[in-house]
Amino acid sequence: MPTVLITGANRGLGQGFAQQLGDAGWRVIATCRDPDAAGLSGEAHVLDVTSAESVQALKETLQGEPIDLLLNNAGIYGPRDYGLGSIDYDAWAEVVAVDALAPVRVAEALVDNVAASERKLMVFISSMMGSIAQTGSGDAIIYRSAKACLNASVNVLSNGLKSHGIACVLFHPGWVQTDMGGPTAAIDVKTSIRGMCNVIDRLTLDDSGRFINYDGFDIPW
Ligand SMILES: NC(=O)c1ccc[n+]([C@@H]2O[C@H](COP(=O)([O-])OP(=O)(O)OC[C@H]3O[C@@H](n4cnc5c(N)ncnc54)[C@H](OP(=O)(O)O)[C@@H]3O)[C@@H](O)[C@H]2O)c1
Repeated sequence: MPTVLITGANRGLGQGFAQQLGDAGWRVIATCRDPDAAGLSGEAHVLDVTSAESVQALKETLQGEPIDLLLNNAGIYGPRDYGLGSIDYDAWAEVVAVDALAPVRVAEALVDNVAASERKLMVFISSMMGSIAQTGSGDAIIYRSAKACLNASVNVLSNGLKSHGIACVLFHPGWVQTDMGGPTAAIDVKTSIRGMCNVIDRLTLDDSGRFINYDGFDIPW
């Protein structure tokens, strides 16, 4: 039975991944900031992805446990109504901490667990909004730049970890009906997760470093 560890598994896409992969027979290690409040069933651990202490505690708890798929999903959008003249720099730093620095911190902490597994996969949930090639818009500098930073970091990680047999890929999940995407988003959680899981099933080391739409198409950097 392959094992997946998911960050931000209490709602939205993280919860969708936990359900879909659990139904498909995976052992699911669900993590979130408050598992008791979330009422997570099964194996759940506390993890605030921005806290060095929290990440270290999880690392120690899971020492020696192979993790086939590390799913770095937790993320925030940050402020929505702002423009030049009203940028909140503290909020920007927080979004970069959650969306760009934390996934690398979690990957760094659990790399030995992934290396000890059969599948050896790290998946990072990014966004098309992090594509520099497709920006074409003057809005959302905070979220776009944080996801662009994640993309660049995972590109570097993918090169560094290939020699360990670990594949790292980035996904755009689509515009999805979650708290972040809102109720008028284009697709539901099931459609997004089904698409990404189909791609994940077929990933090999040769795919490492790809930035992939939920339907399997590559996204320009
Ligand atoms: N929905 C979309 O249209 C869309 C589009 C492109 C990319 N994405 C990306 O998809 C991922 C999932 O988003 P979503 O749509 O499912 O959003 P969501 O419903 O708002 O869920 C966000 C998740 O991230 C968790 N989280 C935030 N900060 C955290 C922290 N410091 N430590 C641990 N967990 C933390 C939240 O936990 P709490 O409940 O504790 O806050 C929650 O579980 C994100 O990376 C997002 O950027 C979403």
